Amino acid sequence: MKTTPRRDGPPSGALLIHGGRVIDPARGVDGPRDVLIRDGRIAAVEPDLGKRAGLRGLPSLEAKGKWVTPGLIDLHVHLREPGGERAETIATGSAAAARGGFTTVLAMPNTQPPADQPRLLADLRRRARAAAKVNVLFAAAVTVGQRGERLTDFERLLEAGAVAFSDDGRPVADAGLMRRALERSRSLDVAVIAHCEDPGLAGPGVMNEGRWADLKGLRGIPRAGETAMAMRDIILARATRGNLHIAHVSALGTVAAVRQAKAWAAGPGGAAGRVTCEAAPHHWTLCDSDIPGLDADFKMNPPLRSEDDRSSVISGLADGVIDAIASDHAPHPAARKALGFRAAPFGVIGLETSLGLALTRLAGRALSPSRLIELMSAAPARILRLESKGSLAVGKDADLTVIDPAASWTVRPPFASRSSNSPFTGMRLTGRACATIVKGEVVYAL
Ligand code: DOR
Repeated sequence: MKTTPRRDGPPSGALLIHGGRVIDPARGVDGPRDVLIRDGRIAAVEPDLGKRAGLRGLPSLEAKGKWVTPGLIDLHVHLREPGGERAETIATGSAAAARGGFTTVLAMPNTQPPADQPRLLADLRRRARAAAKVNVLFAAAVTVGQRGERLTDFERLLEAGAVAFSDDGRPVADAGLMRRALERSRSLDVAVIAHCEDPGLAGPGVMNEGRWADLKGLRGIPRAGETAMAMRDIILARATRGNLHIAHVSALGTVAAVRQAKAWAAGPGGAAGRVTCEAAPHHWTLCDSDIPGLDADFKMNPPLRSEDDRSSVISGLADGVIDAIASDHAPHPAARKALGFRAAPFGVIGLETSLGLALTRLAGRALSPSRLIELMSAAPARILRLESKGSLAVGKDADLTVIDPAASWTVRPPFASRSSNSPFTGMRLTGRACATIVKGEVVYAL
């Protein structure tokens, strides 16, 4: 990516991105514009800014043939710090984010120990300030130790900097506790991110229940386990007017449930809290029939489902039932994935392939470029209440992604992530980030 160096450099911090196609769904912009950044904020977005006398000679970034979008936001990643540094750290995970075009990520709290206390949150934020290439935000646990017994102190965790709550990796099995969590989410105007899985139904399963699990001799995870829990949480969100965000939707029935929830909220008695949901690239790209043998790099939770499930997720992304794309980046050391399909941990990396898969599998097919960018920037910003992000309006944080929609590349190690458990290795993709800009600084350039 061609850049001209800053003459005077920061702190004046001006940068002109010129010649690109600006796609800013939050403001309905899709067309040729130049973007001027000053002091870490968007200063102007207009055609032909580069030709203006006063702006000629500024440090610049040529974006001809590229898309210039609000910085992409991934609201579901696992950075494994503290406790899982063999798999990932804030430094390596945020480098993977930058390489994938993400300027902001939300780290889940299922670390060791889980992020369930204000001092742990404060420590994580200090670590991120010291080591992260991109904005790293943190979700705090819903229950102490993620044990599902007692709620954490939401108010103090928010004060310590948490931006959402989740027991991700596990459901909040007790409906009474989940109800109280959603009540708080309403009064505090924050999202509870739900890992929807009924433990009794999921049991000891390791892949989607059905023909393929039978053929491989593996225990199945039924779709009903996800959908039943999602329906429970939708009912609780309605009752409490809470803010429910359903993580990694994988099953047709769950898409239908969220569709119903949104229609319900829009109908008589409406204004019933906010129900949103996300889908992960592996769930709209692959099916259970795509798992080669017993390759544990294809094992994640929820698991790859059937073709009907996969296409229902794509329909949901296209028609607005699914609000956001989130990678569920879940790194694990190769040695643990080598334990085989039954014993290996659930999870696949995704930060470096999410955008490429979206551009290859969705853009120009089921989704317009603008809808795609909305799913990866404006929508996650809305769900997390990130007022200064998700759009290129003047005054917003100068977080941007420059995308080459035509770049053809093959997914292969080395990854910027410390782990390489990707089911997409070897896949040829079209489109990737060619520059990632955080608060006006280029943190990654291809
Ligand atoms: O596949 C998954 N991996 N699903 C989860 O819910 C948790 C995650 C992890 O932390 O590895």
